[in-house]
Amino acid sequence: MDSLQTPLTLPNGSVLSNRIAKSAMSENLSTKDHKPTPVLIGAYRKWASSGAGLLITGNVMVDVKAIGEPRNVVVEDRSNMALLKEWAATTDGTDTQLWVQVNHPGRQAMEQVNKTLKAPSAVPLKTSGRKDATGKIPEAMTEAEILHAIDAFGNTALILKEAGFAGVQIHGAHGYLVSQFLSPDANVRTDRWGGSLENRARFVVEIYRKMRALVGADFPIGIKLNSADFQKGGFSEEESMEVVKILSREGIDLIEISGGTYEAPAMMGKRKASTVKREVYFMEYIEKARKITDTPLMLTGGFRTASVMRDAVASDQLDVVGVARPFTVYPNIGHEILGGSRTSFPTDIQKTGVKGIDGFMGLIWYEAQIKRLGQGKEPDPKLNAWLVFINYVWLILLGKFGGGK
Ligand SMILES: Cc1cc2nc3c(=O)[nH]c(=O)nc-3n(C[C@H](O)[C@H](O)[C@H](O)COP(=O)(O)O)c2cc1C
Repeated sequence: MDSLQTPLTLPNGSVLSNRIAKSAMSENLSTKDHKPTPVLIGAYRKWASSGAGLLITGNVMVDVKAIGEPRNVVVEDRSNMALLKEWAATTDGTDTQLWVQVNHPGRQAMEQVNKTLKAPSAVPLKTSGRKDATGKIPEAMTEAEILHAIDAFGNTALILKEAGFAGVQIHGAHGYLVSQFLSPDANVRTDRWGGSLENRARFVVEIYRKMRALVGADFPIGIKLNSADFQKGGFSEEESMEVVKILSREGIDLIEISGGTYEAPAMMGKRKASTVKREVYFMEYIEKARKITDTPLMLTGGFRTASVMRDAVASDQLDVVGVARPFTVYPNIGHEILGGSRTSFPTDIQKTGVKGIDGFMGLIWYEAQIKRLGQGKEPDPKLNAWLVFINYVWLILLGKFGGGK
């Protein structure tokens, strides 16, 4: 049997119908006040028939006072239950599970959207690579604020379960709050939340336990975790392996591996020659992680050919193939891979030739494709980069960025 077509039973007994997963991509398609829009829901209606066993949404915020991007959905109470139910129902009648990625950006939040930035410690980002993530000094969270954030993650997971989503994923990667707590560089606390790895991992462990207590044993909870932060003094590969062990012992259902932060964006950036040869990022890491845990592993970053995906699962290096950018231009990718009608999924975006703009294009070009899907249009692999950029700036100026009012 095709390795990718083999169902996967998660530790809690829930079954993924195949090994292809859409990894999280921030859609930036909420209303101004952070509700899901018909365009956002439309994109998931499209992806529900992609043939993937698992769809993970773009990051949804747990607290309206801590928002990563201006049009992120926030789920902190039940006021938008009808919309959440509609979103969750997009996969009804299919073999696809829809999970929501839940996140708190910590110091990687936009200054323009958040009055204050909260983080484990008052350590600013070292980069101004993104204009919206300049080195503003965050406020170190108090004990009460940390406990409040843990409760917020749990509360959001419970509401999402009630809305009908099939599972949740904690965003523990890419330099957001959970990943800031894990990093000895961003977290220089001297209390029980900082210092030793056990202390730095306490935040994510408590989030997991809070969620589990609220959603029960049967509801899938996963995490996206960095293999490393790729920074001197940051969260290292050895520490990441330890966190894999800790979370496995706790009973987490799926560990997705990625890597990097805004300071060193390894999740989408340039790759080492050895990695390019094997197509996929973080492959060496996953092979090592495989030896230390029985928890299902998902790997995301760089998968573009069906044969590489198939071999990775067949050789038992990983359990689930995570794919992000190709889903925006090949919305039927699951069926195409499994049926063999397409074997390669390149995502060569159009560029403007202006370095500053093209860095940005690596996000907004894909967001523009997601918006097209949500509007019922076909993807446009030739979508002009200048048009995307001008449209983006124009909508922001008009205050109409996102998926609706
Ligand atoms: C537009 C865009 C938005 C993204 N948003 C998120 C996000 O919300 N959460 C997350 O964990 N990763 C996010 N990512 C990273 C992807 O999940 C993935 O790790 C990365 O794109 C590498 O996988 P790929 O080569 O299959 O695209 C985003 C990527 C893109 C292109």
